[in-house]
Amino acid sequence: MTRAGGAARGTRIETDVLVLGSGIAGLTYAIKAARHGRVTVLTKKEDTEANTNYAQGGIAAVMDPSDSFAAHIADTLEAGAGLCDRRAVALLVESGPDRVRELIEYGVRFTYQRGEPGRLSLAREGGHSARRIVRADDLTGRAIERGLLDAAARASVKIHEHYFALDLWLDRSGPLPRCVGVLAVDRETGEDVAVSANVTFLATGGCGQVYRFTTNPGIATGDGIAMAFRAGAPVANLEFVQFHPTALYPVEPRPFLISEAVRGEGAILRDAEGRAFMAGYHPLADLAPRDVVARAIDAEMRRAGTDHVWLDTSPIAPDHFAERFPNILETCRSRGLDPPTAPLPVVPAAHYMCGGVVTDLDARTGVAGLLAAGEVACTGVHGANRLASNSLLEAVVFADRAARATPDMVATPRSGADPPPPPRRSGSPTDLDGLRRRIREILWTGAGIVRDDAGLAAAEAQLAELVPRVPTNPRTPEAAEVANLLLVGRLIVRSAILRKESRGLHFSRSHPDSDPTFLHDTIIRPCEGKEPLP
Ligand code: FAD
Ligand code: SIN
Repeated sequence: MTRAGGAARGTRIETDVLVLGSGIAGLTYAIKAARHGRVTVLTKKEDTEANTNYAQGGIAAVMDPSDSFAAHIADTLEAGAGLCDRRAVALLVESGPDRVRELIEYGVRFTYQRGEPGRLSLAREGGHSARRIVRADDLTGRAIERGLLDAAARASVKIHEHYFALDLWLDRSGPLPRCVGVLAVDRETGEDVAVSANVTFLATGGCGQVYRFTTNPGIATGDGIAMAFRAGAPVANLEFVQFHPTALYPVEPRPFLISEAVRGEGAILRDAEGRAFMAGYHPLADLAPRDVVARAIDAEMRRAGTDHVWLDTSPIAPDHFAERFPNILETCRSRGLDPPTAPLPVVPAAHYMCGGVVTDLDARTGVAGLLAAGEVACTGVHGANRLASNSLLEAVVFADRAARATPDMVATPRSGADPPPPPRRSGSPTDLDGLRRRIREILWTGAGIVRDDAGLAAAEAQLAELVPRVPTNPRTPEAAEVANLLLVGRLIVRSAILRKESRGLHFSRSHPDSDPTFLHDTIIRPCEGKEPLP
């Protein structure tokens, strides 16, 4: 680390490979890239604070002889409602078992069949035609995060916690801009940091925080999507936001997910009168696809004027519940709830972004020098809807692809240029908390579980009104997050407006049917130097 002089005051870090984010995608890539050079990871909070750490259900892969690649591919394509990229899906599924075995080699401790040490305990989730969910009790994400952090330490990966990436650093001296690192801020000292690298790997995760109610932790503010878009990378399919049906109510201040696996083990959704309502919506009742269940709960809450429904866990034997869901049991008890005897109040909440920064099969984005994988990316795997537990798999598979593309990129000479001077601090103070709340409310109301033309148009106008109030070129993490939430929120609404049909996760009352005219991705390309959105 050196002190930079001149216009670029602050700290300067030089590295071969720069990774933004310490979730499953960032760490998997970092461990593999360490074979090709020095790797530096920046992460905006503690190293464990990532969506990955909260994953419960597990990671999908064909690990049982009675299962097949063809079946996993078919299930993924079925969920994706016509929009999956078949090559990406085949790659995802066929490399899945190797990537899971690699996680085990890194030290991730999955759950095995009792009395059969070599046999993974595989769960089944909605939309999967076989038992193929590899899990670590109901704390799969935490086990993966810990295993990967240990493996990253062994691989001498340098992780800087509390370093917030503000924007990608672009070299504009050639015909096309090239990413040569990142401009960041050290949250503990407030100092500007410029990191220059031959390769930058974006693994900043999703954007659940753009919605008022979300299962995602506070880090999920869409920073990577916003940074890549500002740098010139196209984004796609941002209208496909997955709402998980069962977040514990109330969702705020700390969201907690009641895994779909709880319904998989027999729990039943009921309204305030105790009526089991899912059979009226889908032949699979409580095990219907996630989007159908979320919309059904939304409809029931509107009909009854309630702010949650109930998850009756009493069909699950107490001993089995305690063994299968130790973390859910402990958290519920800490909130004064007593499953499986007493029902749990639950509500749908924004959970997963299927779209993101457009990447090819080697994780390359539309900006030279910039790779991306994990929830920030749109690889084509999920199409219009994600199959449960395919996202952790997607992250490891495409992080591995990116690592294979890395040696050539590391060989590219690094820019010797000084980073641009940090932007001036904006003059007038802004109510950042108020703006953040307003953006999240607008998205929840106008671009939530069920949409329509009027609501989307209103949301677009309301978000546009906020643009002059949000700092341009923010220098603090708090201001940058609000700017990123606003940009990502506007991109989600624009994408939803462009899709005048219903497909997968995007359901519009104004266009309730699917329309083959829209059997394509919704791609938004930034226009350099111009306001990108109307
Ligand atoms: P993340 O794990 O979110 O990591 C992003 C990283 O980027 C974090 O370290 C963050 O701090 C960092 N970062 C972000 N912005 C910046 C910035 N500006 N500067 C520096 N660092 C930054 N998927 C499954 O497949 N199976 C499941 O069972 C499952 N359960 C889930 C349960 C919950 C409650 C949630 C929220 C999600 C679940 N998912 C599940 C989805 C899955 O966890 C995520 O899609 C996946 O973990 C994303 O991994 P990632 O590495 O892309 O991003
Ligand atoms: C869950 O455990 O219900 C979440 C699984 C997922 O998001 O894939």
